[in-house]
Amino acid sequence: MERAIEISMPFKYLVKPNPMVGALILKGDQIVSEGAHQKYGEAHAEVNCFNLLKEEITDEHVMICSLEPCNHHGKTGPCTEKIISSGIKKIIIGSLDPNPKVAGKGMKKLQDAGVEVVQGILEDKVKELNHFFFFKHINERPFISIKIASSADGKSHNLDGSSTWITSKKSRKDVQLVRAEFDAILTGGNTVRNDNPRMNARVNFEINQPKKILLTSQNKWNENMNFFQTSDVEIIAEKNLHTVINNISRQNINSVLVEAGPKLVNAFLKEGLCDELIVYKSPDNLGDAAVSWFEGKKPFDNFDFNLTSSYTIDRDKKSIYTK
Ligand SMILES: NC(=O)c1ccc[n+]([C@@H]2O[C@H](COP(=O)([O-])OP(=O)(O)OC[C@H]3O[C@@H](n4cnc5c(N)ncnc54)[C@H](OP(=O)(O)O)[C@@H]3O)[C@@H](O)[C@H]2O)c1
Repeated sequence: MERAIEISMPFKYLVKPNPMVGALILKGDQIVSEGAHQKYGEAHAEVNCFNLLKEEITDEHVMICSLEPCNHHGKTGPCTEKIISSGIKKIIIGSLDPNPKVAGKGMKKLQDAGVEVVQGILEDKVKELNHFFFFKHINERPFISIKIASSADGKSHNLDGSSTWITSKKSRKDVQLVRAEFDAILTGGNTVRNDNPRMNARVNFEINQPKKILLTSQNKWNENMNFFQTSDVEIIAEKNLHTVINNISRQNINSVLVEAGPKLVNAFLKEGLCDELIVYKSPDNLGDAAVSWFEGKKPFDNFDFNLTSSYTIDRDKKSIYTK
């Protein structure tokens, strides 16, 4: 199972919002084939594993799969049918699928066809690796993270709208990696109007880019703006954030990174729609002619967050708060 998990990991940024999955076929203690899910929308791990197998399946062969094989008709047909028709007699599964509507159904189909199933091997590791995927299916909404850059005196941006970088180049590079992890990046009308940001994940490896979501009451936008240039953009004209999140939950999105100004960030926090707060704090002040992120001196305490980790990046401090 460790090997099945290991071979799934290089495809983290390409398979999302799907989970990372690896599959092996063993004969005795020898691995005779292995495959991983490599790209969103493409073949599942089990299919790749069978395609690379160079020998006939016998009663001695055992399949290992880090996640319960699917039992639905996707682009490649149910993996359970492929496993049953291969003649394999035993399968070992890391974790059942977290989606309550499908959990256990793949396993039952295999058992009904006479395949011996063992499940729950390194289950915690599979869940931890695919944290957003499990979170979405268990909570029926995506994991919501808010990322902010703050000056030492707790400010977000200049009052007069003049642009300024708050944090160092290294911190901004780190933000690109954070973005790459998420299925969607969400922002508000003012940020797009004032900053004209690209808000895609600019990393030096191939990824399935996050979708961009813009919350705004403005009907018409100039599509030549940077924000509309890269990846898929959805505009949502809805003020109620619970309705917004319900809408997003119906899509294939397991995680949302909110990157907005104080208005939208505080609105998400007040609605309790934040699972993680990532703060990049510079040692420099922006001063009186700038807008504060939060009211009061210890804003995170008001929202019941606990500091879970902090790092130094160049001159800045990156802190992660969770509930
Ligand atoms: N330091 C940082 O990390 C950082 C990050 C991002 C942005 N910023 C700065 O933040 C500034 C803008 O901040 P801001 O607070 O004025 O705006 P904001 O939070 O980025 O956006 C607020 C806008 O979001 C839309 N919206 C939709 N539903 C909302 C809701 N329920 N609650 C609040 N807003 C909702 C509205 O757009 P419409 O008006 O279009 O209807 C609203 O005007 C920018 O100038 C930028 O420089 C800083």
